[in-house]
Amino acid sequence: MNLNTKTTRIAPEEIDRQRAFCAQIRARNSARAAQPLAFVDTYGCQQNEADSERLRGYLAEMGYAFTSDEHEADVILINTCAIREHAEHRVLGNVGALVHTKRAKPGQIICVCGCMAQEPHVAQKIKDSFRQVDLVFGPHALWKFPELFYRVYTRRGRVFEITDEPGSIAEGIPVVRQNGIKAWVSIMYGCNNFCTYCIVPYVRGRERSRDPEVILSEIRALVDEGYRDITLLGQNVNSYGKDLGLGVDFSDLLEQAAAIPGDFLLRFMTSHPKDASQKLFDVMGRCEKVAPHFHLPFQSGSTRVLEAMNRRYTREGYLEKVRALRAAVPDVVITSDVIVGFPGETQAEFEETLSLIEEVRFDALFTFIYSPRRGTPAAGMDDPMSKEDKAANFQRLAARQDEISEERHAAYVGRTVRCLVDGEDGKGLTARTPGNRLVRLEGDRSLIGRFVEIRMTGSNKWSLTGEPVKD
Ligand code: SAH
Ligand code: SF4
Ligand code: F3S
Repeated sequence: MNLNTKTTRIAPEEIDRQRAFCAQIRARNSARAAQPLAFVDTYGCQQNEADSERLRGYLAEMGYAFTSDEHEADVILINTCAIREHAEHRVLGNVGALVHTKRAKPGQIICVCGCMAQEPHVAQKIKDSFRQVDLVFGPHALWKFPELFYRVYTRRGRVFEITDEPGSIAEGIPVVRQNGIKAWVSIMYGCNNFCTYCIVPYVRGRERSRDPEVILSEIRALVDEGYRDITLLGQNVNSYGKDLGLGVDFSDLLEQAAAIPGDFLLRFMTSHPKDASQKLFDVMGRCEKVAPHFHLPFQSGSTRVLEAMNRRYTREGYLEKVRALRAAVPDVVITSDVIVGFPGETQAEFEETLSLIEEVRFDALFTFIYSPRRGTPAAGMDDPMSKEDKAANFQRLAARQDEISEERHAAYVGRTVRCLVDGEDGKGLTARTPGNRLVRLEGDRSLIGRFVEIRMTGSNKWSLTGEPVKD
């Protein structure tokens, strides 16, 4: 792994060179009888979603239209996640099955990218056992996808590009966004925290921040295009700017973004409790456009386990941050992540996690069973608790949180809340409260993309139901 912290800024001419590869591929694609199709399949977190939007941007420039049917796709691009073993198995199963689609459609080009591709043993496995895969590249190589793809497209053989590096920043890559209302904006890449269970720093490289002016102009453009819900992304947004030396930290960036004219909401993910500051809470409290939603992963309620995880805060320190946040942002919705069964976690330590969720009463909680990741320190730690005991603890925690979420949702009933109607599914329209709780409602499709006053009429543990207030 590369611990060098030097960030490479990819020169604009390099991106121009990549786009020239797109143009060459486009010229060949346009000679075909029908427009070729690409299928981009994304796993993992919003960072990967944002990366897929850039890969789609490149593919669109190459002349591809998009499909979600792997059988008809000329190009299949699988953007993978390495966070837990389960995610990896699912991907490898799906990649394995593509041998059949390729047999039925011999010219098909299959690419695997993302965090798993950056793990040397996975790349090796694909090289040896998944001959149907033509191109493998990690997150560091995303900006040069056109050049790599061109080599495969012109049939120069299989290409593997997974060199380890501290990481780069590339501006000017075209983007095709999946949604016209909500947008992701990466403000930084990588992570320096090295939580002992986590693979992310190894596959995403060191923390590096984008230039604030570039970020702000991207947000301005999104608002002008009609986006209403913009999420600033980073593995630990509170570290934003530390590497730039410009005197702009995350709170400053957020406040400047919130000063952009227009009717929109700003969100951000993720915050590390050790760095979540009073200054940030105050900016949230003060800026109406910053949504009152805070995702603050706690991972464990035991100070001993937190230390073994290298989280660098204590149970009390975490609870103190929550108190300060609630004091600054009264109606804030707090969500979190937690890991059950970290190596060496005792039953008594698990009970501390349970008592922490009682104390905080999160609006929603993402609960994970610890999954050993090759190359991380925790994977080598003693892990005496049985799988069954961990699973039982996981069930208890999830069941208790379900009750808490249900109670929290029930408290909305009767209230009227200004929500963004963001889409529809089989059951009607969907909307989000400022705190990002899901609301289901009946109504006309013309409401999609608008902020609407909604009176809450019902709730369950997952969502609220409501009706638009007639004015
Ligand atoms: N950067 C974010 C988290 C990204 S990963 C943060 O620090 O909060 C999302 C979540 O996956 C983590 O918060 C953690 O709860 C979970 N996770 C990460 N590695 C894991 C592992 N090896 N096993 C189980 N869960 C894990
Ligand atoms: Fe992983 Fe910790 Fe970094 Fe989050 S802060 S990405 S959990 S190492
Ligand atoms: Fe997964 Fe990579 Fe995100 S490992 S969670 S896709 S940063």
